[in-house]
Amino acid sequence: MTNEEHKTNNTQARAPEQFAPAGTKERNLGLELVRVTEAAAYAASRFMGRGDKIAVDGAAVDAMRTALDGVDMHGVVVIGEGEKDEAPMLYIGEEVGNGLPPDVDVAVDPVDGTRLTAQGLPGAIAVVATADRGSMFRAPAGVYYMEKLAVSRAAAKVIDLDAPIAENLERIARARSTRVPDLTVTVLDRPRHDDIIKEVRAAGARIQLITDGDVSAAIHAAMEDYLETDVYIGIGGAPEAVLAAAALKCVGGQILCRVWPRTDLEREKLQADGVDLRRIYTVDDLVTGNNVSFAATGITSGDLLRGVRFGATGARTHSVMMRARSGTIRYIEAVHNWKKQ
Ligand code: FBP
Repeated sequence: MTNEEHKTNNTQARAPEQFAPAGTKERNLGLELVRVTEAAAYAASRFMGRGDKIAVDGAAVDAMRTALDGVDMHGVVVIGEGEKDEAPMLYIGEEVGNGLPPDVDVAVDPVDGTRLTAQGLPGAIAVVATADRGSMFRAPAGVYYMEKLAVSRAAAKVIDLDAPIAENLERIARARSTRVPDLTVTVLDRPRHDDIIKEVRAAGARIQLITDGDVSAAIHAAMEDYLETDVYIGIGGAPEAVLAAAALKCVGGQILCRVWPRTDLEREKLQADGVDLRRIYTVDDLVTGNNVSFAATGITSGDLLRGVRFGATGARTHSVMMRARSGTIRYIEAVHNWKKQ
């Protein structure tokens, strides 16, 4: 289903009374967040294919920071570019927004797919999510990676991070009234996933390897009418897990995650710091509550979103905006006119 069809479908599926009637004052923060991801995507896209990851990230962070300050909110970054001393902007604990209510947690990834952008490869996006203050998972210091398993609503209750992959795939197929050979499993192409890839192949499912960008991969797996993939599995960034969970709060589905230390030393350190390495986090653990907004804009064209495109008079951006409360998913194609901005 195309984005356009999805949008139409989404609209048709809702009972009329579920739409906010004209004149009601309910605010949709996500609509403002789209301008933030548009700004970051636009800035990053200027460096597409130029081989400079630092320039890509720097431009996006800068633009996102400036755009966030125009949003009516008192935000605190809980997922960001790192600690204050290692990141000049959008560091964890930084206050963003213009200071007006609401008080929110903010998760940012100005570029999910820095390498993709620097190399001009498909699938890089700029991402922001907000939720009520105190409701987003704050990864303990030293937690960089998580094991992840994401599926759509139909299979949300049957997956188990401790079960063998073949068993998970059997259960997912059954829950979705399909067969394992008809399932597509998305995996980040990394040597650490060699065993996962072998197990998926042995189970008979199809594999889609991606080089980067597992926020999009988890969203795709969760979207029931997106038929390119059914499962996202593997180890990826912990911040990306929280961002994916924010999106899944809106589209439905489940992502199970568990902290994954890279080395024995890291494991010992995390254990000494009291981090529970056995705990499995669900969507609701990563983002509690239902007041969640999520926005993403394509930097380079991919399956979820088109990238930033330039014309004689301006640029076009393609974004998605979602809200957990209403479950609405909006795709926004924006035309930015250079003469007027
Ligand atoms: P960045 O663009 O922030 O580098 O993240 C890209 C990404 O592919 C994420 O989507 C994913 O969670 C993570 O990197 C995987 O980490 P690694 O590249 O170290 O395997």
